[in-house]
Amino acid sequence: MGVYAVTGSASGMGRAAAEKLRADGHNVIGVDQRDADVVADLSTPRGRSNAAAAVLDRADGRLDGAVLAAGVGPLPGAENVGLILSVNYFGVTELLDAWRPALAAAKKAKVVVVASNSTTTMPMVPNRAVRALLDGDLDRAVRTLRLFRSAATSLAYGGSKIAVARWLRRNAVRPEWAGAGIRLNALAPGAILTPLLERQLATPREARTVRAFPVPVGGFGSPDQLAQWMVFMLSDAADFLCGSVVFVDGGSDAYFRADDWPTRVPTRRLVRYGLQFWRGSRR
Ligand code: NAI
Repeated sequence: MGVYAVTGSASGMGRAAAEKLRADGHNVIGVDQRDADVVADLSTPRGRSNAAAAVLDRADGRLDGAVLAAGVGPLPGAENVGLILSVNYFGVTELLDAWRPALAAAKKAKVVVVASNSTTTMPMVPNRAVRALLDGDLDRAVRTLRLFRSAATSLAYGGSKIAVARWLRRNAVRPEWAGAGIRLNALAPGAILTPLLERQLATPREARTVRAFPVPVGGFGSPDQLAQWMVFMLSDAADFLCGSVVFVDGGSDAYFRADDWPTRVPTRRLVRYGLQFWRGSRR
């Protein structure tokens, strides 16, 4: 049986995933700001490094997998921009960077990051903020987003999820990850009925926005359904799954982007690859 780290294990999808893994007999190290094996605040650098170290300590240097589900929704108030970016982006990337050697030690570890279908369905997320996160510059990302005033926290939420998905896809294919047997993949859920969504539904204005959003299959997803996907993506079925972002959103992404995806790789990138291949084959 394996050893798995699960962040956000006290509530919602993280909790459902931790319960499922435990029921299957695995050793789960839950990380959350309350009611967890490792209690830590992932919004601060110190909280993240303490959490990463405490998990490695308990795991004894070997992790068979991880689920990164801790996250903060688009809380209102410009003061929350930094919090959202810190938990949703650095709370994933810094932990995974710290855990990489332990994941590599397992030889065929699997990681599931919980992104969101906001990655593709939220309009106007400034690319500058996404780039700042990918550069590791929290202050620049916060400054950029605060210019958007009342929309700042929604855009911070969408931006944090776009950045984490791009970080994942960039890293998933690299020798340090793919070559070390670690499979990095993401889930992009739509509206899932967890305490995070319940808080949004409790505010009439937000509830109207959530309920008006097109979901072709109707209704909300359940944390248990998403946990089933996570467990599947942690299984051997994911040996050949690498850098994928799997949308489980009742069809919203397909509704908006039916003809926008798949799109082919830009020709200049294929040409560059062809040249490298040609030069390599002539050596
Ligand atoms: P939830 O609110 O039920 O659970 C989130 C967990 O993260 C909580 O246990 C919370 O304590 C923990 N957390 C938040 N801030 C933390 C911090 N500073 N330090 C440590 N732990 C912290 O939410 P839910 O819905 O289960 O969300 C899980 C993930 O799914 C999040 O990343 C969220 O952004 C994402 N998501 C949720 C959707 C939904 O409709 N519920 C839709 C798309 C994505």
